[in-house]
Amino acid sequence: MSIDYSERIPNNVDLSSDKRLQRALEQWQPAFLDWWGDMGPDGWQADDVYLRTAISTEPGGWAQFGFVKMPEYRWGIFLADAVPDRRIAFGDHKGEPVWQDVPGEHRNALQRIIVTQADTEPASVEQQRRLGATAPSLYDLRNLFQVNVEEGRHLWAMVYLLHRHFGRDGREEADALLARRAGDPDNPRILDAFNQPCVDWLTFFCFTTFTDRDGKYQLAALAESGFDPLSRTCRFMLTEEAHHLSVGEDGVRRVLERAAELERLDPNGDVRKHGGVDFATIQKYITYWFSYSIDLFGSEVSSNAANFFASGIKGRYREEELDIDHVALTGTYRMSTPVDGRLVDQDVPVRNAMNELLRNAYIEDAEKVVVRWNRAMEEVGTTFRVRLPNPRFFRRQGLYAGLPFDFEGNLISAGEFEARKTEWLPTDADRAYVTSLMHGVFDHGKVANWIAAPKRGINKMPADFDYVRRDV
Ligand SMILES: [Fe+2]
Ligand SMILES: [Fe+2]
Repeated sequence: MSIDYSERIPNNVDLSSDKRLQRALEQWQPAFLDWWGDMGPDGWQADDVYLRTAISTEPGGWAQFGFVKMPEYRWGIFLADAVPDRRIAFGDHKGEPVWQDVPGEHRNALQRIIVTQADTEPASVEQQRRLGATAPSLYDLRNLFQVNVEEGRHLWAMVYLLHRHFGRDGREEADALLARRAGDPDNPRILDAFNQPCVDWLTFFCFTTFTDRDGKYQLAALAESGFDPLSRTCRFMLTEEAHHLSVGEDGVRRVLERAAELERLDPNGDVRKHGGVDFATIQKYITYWFSYSIDLFGSEVSSNAANFFASGIKGRYREEELDIDHVALTGTYRMSTPVDGRLVDQDVPVRNAMNELLRNAYIEDAEKVVVRWNRAMEEVGTTFRVRLPNPRFFRRQGLYAGLPFDFEGNLISAGEFEARKTEWLPTDADRAYVTSLMHGVFDHGKVANWIAAPKRGINKMPADFDYVRRDV
């Protein structure tokens, strides 16, 4: 379905046919723009940025690139095309037609899920708002802004659902999404990872690799939803999300490659001496953000997750296309459970293990990223290899929350954990060092010393293209 750009709010949902809804969203629009002005990227709002904008939801044909000032970006409401005669693919309602409106009995659960997903979108923009000042190149600066405007669009996607399907409650929730602030002690964002500061570019690359990847898996599980408008929204958001993940993965790879280059330069392999980020520090940042991000999947054993699955609200990763038992009423999942200071295997009904199954799909995907990073490390001839910590390590949610596990997932004493945690997690000194490297590099074709130059540009443009034209 093509997108109507002649309207104040670009959309492919025939917004003009519902005047009340259109008016309500047109009232929310200036509040969104005010939020963007206050909490979007700090500075750069008058500059021309080489951005992509969705022009159609057809696969492969949706992006148009050009210079845009960020406040003039055409945020809108885009749903993937409807699948004719779509049926609920799992749970107790398997085989029934999908819902075009919210069933009364699932209203609270759906609203909660949509609000929680929605809240992450503006949160990450807020977390990243000061990164522009220290961008390592114009290429990176542009990628940051692309991610930011698309997170803004994801907020629009969720706010549309709230306004269209949840009445007054939905409108109030949409307003609250613009009122919470990442890291604000009085009115924080809903999820913990989205209140963590993101003040340096190594953090940004780890965040987009690991935390945006959580987003991918949540969206994929919701793309399976029996609530069809949510499914269609998420399917289109996933096409945008893929770029965020590649920004992260590629960014970390470039930091690793530069470390390898500087290691070779120094007789003692001292990377910091030459102004790079040493491998040990990169590994600690990866460990930290991986652990924070897997918390986002929720408790390992969860009756909420079982209910969401049973009622057809949230499926598993690729539920519909995989040849699996889509009812999942029988069968168990074995889970390593802490009992009296040791780990004991316990069998949990599969429906109650849905969070864990989604987390496992995520971890499998994250392991593939690590394989690609390590292949790059092999190619540049260093012996360093990235590793992911055991999923029990450094958790703040679920079965393993707050328990002292080592990097390999062995239960250790609290004293040993305290003594060893600086081996695994960034110290204040590590963070101060990384921060000390962050200086904006905005000259044509130049790249900061601590990161390798990008291999290729955006949309077949050269890597050293001036992706942001400063208004001076
Ligand atoms: Fe997003
Ligand atoms: Fe994202």
